[in-house]
Amino acid sequence: MPGHKGGRLVFIDDFHKIDVTETIFTDDLYFARGIIKDSLDRLKEFYGTKASYFLTNGSTVGILSAMNVHSRGEEVLLLRDCHKSVYNSIDIFGLKASYINEIKNEQGISVGIDLVELEQKFKKNPALSSFIVTSPTYEGLIYDIKSIANLCREYNVSLIVDEAHGAHLNFWDKSLSGVSYADIVIQSMHKTLPAITSCALIHINDEFLVEKVFEGLKKFQSSSPSFIMMAEMDAVVSKLADDTHYIDDLVCNMTKLKKDLLSLKNITLFDDDNLSKGALSTDVCKLTLICPKKAYHVESLLLKRGFVLEMCTQDYLTCIFTVADKRNIFEKFKKDIFEIDGILDKGVDIDFNKGIKDLFSEESFVQDENTEFLEFSLAIGRKSADKIIPYPPGVPILTKGEEITWEVIEKISKSLLGNKSVYGLYGTKLRVIR
Ligand SMILES: Cc1ncc(COP(=O)(O)O)c(C=O)c1O
Repeated sequence: MPGHKGGRLVFIDDFHKIDVTETIFTDDLYFARGIIKDSLDRLKEFYGTKASYFLTNGSTVGILSAMNVHSRGEEVLLLRDCHKSVYNSIDIFGLKASYINEIKNEQGISVGIDLVELEQKFKKNPALSSFIVTSPTYEGLIYDIKSIANLCREYNVSLIVDEAHGAHLNFWDKSLSGVSYADIVIQSMHKTLPAITSCALIHINDEFLVEKVFEGLKKFQSSSPSFIMMAEMDAVVSKLADDTHYIDDLVCNMTKLKKDLLSLKNITLFDDDNLSKGALSTDVCKLTLICPKKAYHVESLLLKRGFVLEMCTQDYLTCIFTVADKRNIFEKFKKDIFEIDGILDKGVDIDFNKGIKDLFSEESFVQDENTEFLEFSLAIGRKSADKIIPYPPGVPILTKGEEITWEVIEKISKSLLGNKSVYGLYGTKLRVIR
């Protein structure tokens, strides 16, 4: 992110010349009569919605605007792993929220939703006014939004889809996008399409909700939405709709990469075979690789090779590929990940007793001039110049002169994630022997 990948694919340039504001020569998003109305009409036509609007403050403002359809005290149902903007809007609008949990796999990745359980929730609570779902998920799971929407309709519940990670779906396979079925859909264009940060769209399919959402937009979004961003979004939608080779190339490169990665030995691809009920597909843009307990190590090795990941937990990592990634990027990634997969074969378990014994070894005295500082994720394979002691429990996991293995990095990461102190860490750096 952003999906233009450092400007590798851009459809408009010379930004300053189009950085204008609401004047008689331009237009006004909130009272559109000219060029912006034309762009909004193009959006409506392409997406087949009752109304679509540009968001210049990301999906965050789209979610706030969507939640403006509720009255104070109304009840909403959330699929549990919603973005914080949904949780924030529950507070802001004074709503009552209840939850349904995702079906998760061993690594905690969502793999589906139980539609029978969902129906029971609807039956049990006739006061529910809407159901909010995130699809695709961060890890690239796409729910069966059509079936969910049918169920919502049956029980008179509005469906709001946070499609922040799915702005590309309408160009790839629109049957996977909530835009075809849900009442309101919010998409971050900057995540998976070549648009600058914070570019996003909101789509409304229920004409009774259009005014409320638009009212929310006027309340929460900047009163001077950027013309640069609106022009960029207009250009991205037009270009990708007119010239399908961009998305076709991405689908082709990604399909090939995913197929090739099936022969990795230590890393497993999160793909359609992992899906459970209520899910339709995995996302073409996302590559989620499962490598229990070794993901941080893989992350650091990918980083050294120039790949910055979207997300990493101790058990899996997620990357986003977009239309800005050309074939050479896919080839390099494949080569690098196979090389890393080979390195993982050599992973060794850390021996705690050895660490404690070595506290008193001759190597414990290290001259400052023989040391250097490295980001801890880049220190794998080097010898530590300090004892590394997470506190609590205060037991050294490594002492001076010992090799920094992926297990050590994982333990440090876990401790930091758990908000514990790690003695021997300098900010995010470790001191290693030269
Ligand atoms: C699921 C989800 N929804 C909404 C958002 C907010 O998107 P934005 O950054 O466009 O405001 C994010 C951001 O990461 C997200 O992951």
